[in-house]
Amino acid sequence: MKITHIRLYQYRNHLDLAFSPAATHNVLYGNNAAGKTNILEAVVFCLTGGFLRNATEKDLIHYEKDTASVAVSLEEGIRTYEIQVILRRDRAKEIRVNGEKIRSLRELDRVFPISYFTPEDLRIAKDSPQYRRRFIDALLSDVSVPYKNALSAYHKALLQRNTLLKSAGTAHFMRQLNAIDAQLIKAGCYIMAKRDEMVQKVRKEAAPVHAALTDEKEDLRVFYQSDIEGKEEPVKDFLQALSDNLEKDRRLKSTGRGPHRDDLALFINEHPLRLFGSQGQQRTAVLSLKLAEAKIKQKEGVQPVLLLDDVYSELDTERQKMIASITEEHQLMTTTVDIPHGNNEAVWHLENGRMNRKR
Ligand SMILES: Nc1ncnc2c1ncn2[C@@H]1O[C@H](COP(=O)(O)OP(=O)(O)OP(=O)(O)O)[C@@H](O)[C@H]1O
Ligand SMILES: [Mg+2]
Repeated sequence: MKITHIRLYQYRNHLDLAFSPAATHNVLYGNNAAGKTNILEAVVFCLTGGFLRNATEKDLIHYEKDTASVAVSLEEGIRTYEIQVILRRDRAKEIRVNGEKIRSLRELDRVFPISYFTPEDLRIAKDSPQYRRRFIDALLSDVSVPYKNALSAYHKALLQRNTLLKSAGTAHFMRQLNAIDAQLIKAGCYIMAKRDEMVQKVRKEAAPVHAALTDEKEDLRVFYQSDIEGKEEPVKDFLQALSDNLEKDRRLKSTGRGPHRDDLALFINEHPLRLFGSQGQQRTAVLSLKLAEAKIKQKEGVQPVLLLDDVYSELDTERQKMIASITEEHQLMTTTVDIPHGNNEAVWHLENGRMNRKR
């Protein structure tokens, strides 16, 4: 997939900004607060409905305006799409694909693949398990609609189960619980199997990327840490865990066991990254995971666009060159405050709300 045109209208600090990125490597440079991150955020929001940082839809509208829009044109093989999202303060957002209104991107039954890195992603290395689960879930959801469906089925069942646990033991409690557990286990076992498979792929792809980025000095390893032990009989094991924990679940009125408690273990040179990794090591490791993600998506038949926010400025020229060669086959947009060096296809300067192509 390649993005051919981006337009932001009254979106954050951009009153009206449009540009046509080059098909390979683009660097966007400009001063602090020029609006570089806002551009990447707009692309992510338009193509996935997700947010780069903590925000609500209304935050995206320019402070002094009541409406905003983002339009992204892209091509994939011989197909072209224009996705447009219109935001209004007093109404729900409107999404149009090639001019046709849709209610949600989910309706399309497909995803527009992008892989992005933002400083926020450092939480994958530093923070609680939910950020690591989110990484693996987002990756799986992007390459597999059945996974995305299983994940929402699981969360639906989990919500029902927790609601039931909160209702004081009704007459049909056990019957209802068993019915919900059957759903939970069905979706949950599928999720665990797919996560296990995917983490192995991530381990395989991330290791050489990380070795290259660190001049072969560091060895990055990723393991799946499932809350439900044992791969032999997941259905039985999950059922067992649920019944062993039922007393506690009833007391706490929430489900304590299951893949919603899964984690990934990350090691650098055999030491846990979260506990022992330096800032730079954590940053490089997360970047390696993100670049591994792009490689995996590519092997699964989707060609993601890469958006790397504020990544070059932290890395030396050697590492910048490494990123360039690792990402050769992708369309890439990076942001930086410095005038970039290297052989980027296009260099864009963002200044006074305008995007000027410098090279
Ligand atoms: N809704 C909004 N309306 C108007 N301006 C906004 C809105 N939301 C954010 N901004 C402004 O957008 C500016 C640019 O933000 P952005 O994070 O994109 O800058 P940046 O170029 O990435 O800077 P840095 O190099 O520091 O990362 C900020 O100064 C912020 O105040
Ligand atoms: Mg920024």
